[in-house]
Amino acid sequence: MPSKENLAILKKALILTKNKIGKTYPNPVVGCILTDKNNKILSHGVTNIGGRPHAEIIAINKLKNKDDVENLYVTLEPCCHFGKTPPCIDEILKLQNLKNVFICTKDPNAKINGASIDILKKNNINVYEGFFKDDAIRLNQGFFSTQLINRPMISVKIATTLDGKIACANGESKWITNEESRQFVHKIRSQYDCILTTSKTILYDNPMLNVRHPRIAKIQPTRIIIDRNLNLLRNIEKLNLYTTANQQRTIILTLQEVDNISIENIAFIKLQSGNLECIFDAIKNLGITKVLVESGGEFITQLLIDNLIDKLYWFHSSSIIGNDGIAAINNLKCEKIDQLYNFKLENLKRFDDDILKILINEKNFSKIACYF
Ligand SMILES: NC(=O)c1ccc[n+]([C@@H]2O[C@H](COP(=O)([O-])OP(=O)(O)OC[C@H]3O[C@@H](n4cnc5c(N)ncnc54)[C@H](OP(=O)(O)O)[C@@H]3O)[C@@H](O)[C@H]2O)c1
Repeated sequence: MPSKENLAILKKALILTKNKIGKTYPNPVVGCILTDKNNKILSHGVTNIGGRPHAEIIAINKLKNKDDVENLYVTLEPCCHFGKTPPCIDEILKLQNLKNVFICTKDPNAKINGASIDILKKNNINVYEGFFKDDAIRLNQGFFSTQLINRPMISVKIATTLDGKIACANGESKWITNEESRQFVHKIRSQYDCILTTSKTILYDNPMLNVRHPRIAKIQPTRIIIDRNLNLLRNIEKLNLYTTANQQRTIILTLQEVDNISIENIAFIKLQSGNLECIFDAIKNLGITKVLVESGGEFITQLLIDNLIDKLYWFHSSSIIGNDGIAAINNLKCEKIDQLYNFKLENLKRFDDDILKILINEKNFSKIACYF
């Protein structure tokens, strides 16, 4: 069994990944630490931006003397197949004095899924696997989701008044929440591969959907807009989306023919159908593993009904609009209490008079975690 010290180092490997969350897609973000016989840390690595090199290779390449390594700590099982990089396991096996490998969780990729653990064991290396498993799966929930349930992880950000409205009756929603809350949204966005919204919200709010925060790396999430009828084309020059398209990957998903559309820095993808399955399939095919939805209530309600919300960031201001405001969620036809849609409160933050509730869909998470 791993000692307390071993587990503390494995936990450290998880913490190392913090600043790279949302920046390694389509690959997972992984942390790796190498120690000597006294468990002194010799080097560490985290998956690089864009997913390559992998954490283990970064840590190994930083070593002064490879023969000093006795323990390897890694948050996800190393790879053993040729992808865009050679298998990490080959480099790990070159560490001649390696005795123990500590792993949070197996890699769900069908090409790995325990195969690297078997290789290590066959090479007489002790493998300890399955520690901080839920943390490790949550860290890469998008990657696990695409591998195991064939869709990206879907999170939703909503900002409402105390009485659950997202906008006034005329559609005006700037600003329901305060400056501090809105600054925090940039931190949330920075952890996602893509921000998804609808053409309707773009036309109402003309948002930038980018990360504007002084202390966050300038890696912008992809912006994806569902515009089934290409309503945005009429006045696209006036949209922030268009004027900033050279700074951020921007994609419009539509049901219309796109062959003859050419707008600099904006890509158009024709969907086979406008349903949610098809939309998220197209997004997954772009290599995206984590989606943050920032739309109005109509789209969010559809996601809720189809049980496609894995995580909710719900900001509450301390103001009240009244029943003539636009609701965050439309009718759900819950006739009995046991038909309500339930989430689990994961975290709570206060920004002056605003409150942010971070909620998770436990049922959806267990669909992924149950594989291991
Ligand atoms: N406070 C907040 O957090 C916040 C955030 C965003 C927006 N807003 C406000 O929300 C308001 C807009 O909300 P809304 O409810 O009217 O609109 P919305 O949910 O943003 O967008 C509705 C549109 O989404 C598309 N859509 C809906 N269901 C779909 C499905 N199942 N599959 C594919 N596409 C689907 C349809 O457009 P197409 O048929 O044209 O594709 C539909 O017209 C605005 O006033 C905006 O300011 C507030």
